[in-house]
Amino acid sequence: MTNDTNVTWHEHRVSREDRERYNGHRGCVIWFTGLSGSGKSTIANVLDHMLAERGVKAAVLDGDNVRHGLNASPGMLRDTHGDEFAERFGLGFTAIDREENIRRIGAVAQLFCETGTIALTAFISPYRLDRDRVRRTMPEGDFIEVFVDTPLEICEARDPKGLYKKARAGEIKHFTGIDDPYEAPESPELVVRAGERTPEALASEVIDYLVSRAILPVTNS
Ligand code: ADX
Repeated sequence: MTNDTNVTWHEHRVSREDRERYNGHRGCVIWFTGLSGSGKSTIANVLDHMLAERGVKAAVLDGDNVRHGLNASPGMLRDTHGDEFAERFGLGFTAIDREENIRRIGAVAQLFCETGTIALTAFISPYRLDRDRVRRTMPEGDFIEVFVDTPLEICEARDPKGLYKKARAGEIKHFTGIDDPYEAPESPELVVRAGERTPEALASEVIDYLVSRAILPVTNS
């Protein structure tokens, strides 16, 4: 890796292993990927609640929320930071903007993981390469890819934000699944079918997986 910044990595005084021992569970990144309206955020939030009730440290990072702050659009940044800054650092939905969206989230999720927290990320993350890049930055076993496999017809029928309707009407360009691609994972750790089961049942499937991988202790299942 090229490092041209003269910035070195600083080991923390409290190690990840120490934190995991205090917490009684391991940290990891549970990376939900799927179409808009597939149920990623819903499942992540139900899972977050189940984990919190078990005393597990977890945090949800979700596309719509993160795009209000860390990954704000150019339009959101213009008033406070000016045009040049907004154009350079604001993110929209072109392939390269999505790439940067996922890179930043991957880095943030990894920081959570290093603190022994279970980071639950809910981003469309439509490009296989972008997701695989995040996977490769992490130690084996830390990145758990969960494909929320909900058919486009169901997502579109649900249309919780009315965005599919707008995309079909040509009011939103490059909308994933309509006129922009979604590349399904080839070998995700888990596939959940959100069109067929309740979010609670699907979140339980994820918990079972975490127990099977000794990320959560059996008593926490
Ligand atoms: S990602 O592709 O870069 O991973 P992200 O998950 O952050 O996307 O944001 C997706 C959300 O932004 C969608 O759920 C939807 O509410 C909104 N959105 C707005 N424009 C688009 C678009 N062109 N394609 C997909 N989602 C969009």
